[in-house]
Amino acid sequence: MHHFDETAERAAQACLDYALERLRLDPAPLDHPVPFADLHARAGDTITRAGRPPEDVLRVFVDVLAPACLSTDSPRYLAFIPAAPTKASLVFDTVVAASSICATSWLEASGAVYAENEVLAYLAALAGLPAEAGGCFVSGGSAGNLSALFAARESAAARRADRPARWRVAVGEEAHSSIVSTLRILDCDPLVVPSGADDRFTGDALEAVLTNDPDPTSICAIAATGGTTNAGIVDDLAGIGSVARAHGIWFHVDAAYGGAALCAPSARRRFAGIEGADSLIIDPHKWLFAPFDSCALLYREPALARAAHAQQASYLDPMRDPAEGDDAWNPADYAYHLSRRARGLPLWYSLAVHGTDAYADAIEAVLETARAAADRARNAPHVALVREPELSVVLFRRPGWNDDDYATWSRRLLRDQVAFVLPTKWRGETVGRAVFLHPDTTVDVFDEVLAAMV
Ligand SMILES: Cc1ncc(COP(=O)(O)O)c(C=O)c1O
Repeated sequence: MHHFDETAERAAQACLDYALERLRLDPAPLDHPVPFADLHARAGDTITRAGRPPEDVLRVFVDVLAPACLSTDSPRYLAFIPAAPTKASLVFDTVVAASSICATSWLEASGAVYAENEVLAYLAALAGLPAEAGGCFVSGGSAGNLSALFAARESAAARRADRPARWRVAVGEEAHSSIVSTLRILDCDPLVVPSGADDRFTGDALEAVLTNDPDPTSICAIAATGGTTNAGIVDDLAGIGSVARAHGIWFHVDAAYGGAALCAPSARRRFAGIEGADSLIIDPHKWLFAPFDSCALLYREPALARAAHAQQASYLDPMRDPAEGDDAWNPADYAYHLSRRARGLPLWYSLAVHGTDAYADAIEAVLETARAAADRARNAPHVALVREPELSVVLFRRPGWNDDDYATWSRRLLRDQVAFVLPTKWRGETVGRAVFLHPDTTVDVFDEVLAAMV
């Protein structure tokens, strides 16, 4: 099993041939979810005592299992948060897999960490964080929020002699569900700041809440969002950041989805104030065109995160051997993890190959498509635009429809492979939601989505 024998050769040939075929799909088909009974009838029990020929096992994947997985990189995938990895990033993920790198520490993976840190430095510079900012790549936005807010809580605890009965984190109403989960894990309470008339979490609203709060020192962090998941709203980062600074509270920005738009000149101004973040997350597997799973987690003062996260054990001490030098950087020290794949490398390779201008252009193109889609929803006689898109989420309503109508419409669109679009709730009302993220998604696809609402 560990030698490049005949079985390995055949598995490699078959899998690499298929990988090439999948990479060449342009566009990838949407595909369908399949009920368990159907999958079981076709795939059966694939794991046996004696094993099976590599080509046969791959066939089960190609013919049965893969078509039962939606292609998030289809330009017709407009639900949740889609994905659109570049071909270069996808193929380099294969290289990463073949390289068996454990990117936990500088000792084990200095080359990989060097390249990952180059990407982190690029993102930190886009946000305007100081040159000393740093962090690591984690599996996704949920892991990034958890790690950042744990660092925030530990940092607040280190500054307070006594522990409050409960730590709290101030959040906007539209904060991502992973922030709420994080607070449950950390045993912290959310302090929900009501949105203003423009549905945004603002510095003024935060100040009003803090002014009336009986124990503001129990607030260990303020979490703002740079592009909400449901509607793509960028919070008042400048206002929130300045209130956070005035009160000496950690300022976290969850830009998991929207942070990619920092490279788009037409959207950059919306993020004014992001440079004041104490921690920041941006998910390359969302809008930075990298494969799953990848979240860039950055800290203004990495030492504070290290103090919270660095695991201590005699068997880990060599990782921090001074012989590795002052520049030795251990990604394990900046999040809740130890062993980790070098998941920043696919983005590194693609950025290095294509250059950062290509990313700016691709993100601008997506923003343009979202604006065109909003125009279509505004002008169509049978639908209405719910709010002007700030980034690339478009909300639209079909007057007169109930939840069942939206559910039927959504199922029909997927059945006919027109698009994967799901409804959401906006101010309690069920509405349609389309997220644009693939540069190849055209407004014609959205026209088909709207036509199905007639
Ligand atoms: C704003 C925001 N934060 C966090 C997350 C969670 O990211 P992940 O799904 O990678 O854990 C998402 C996911 O959509 C998101 O949109």
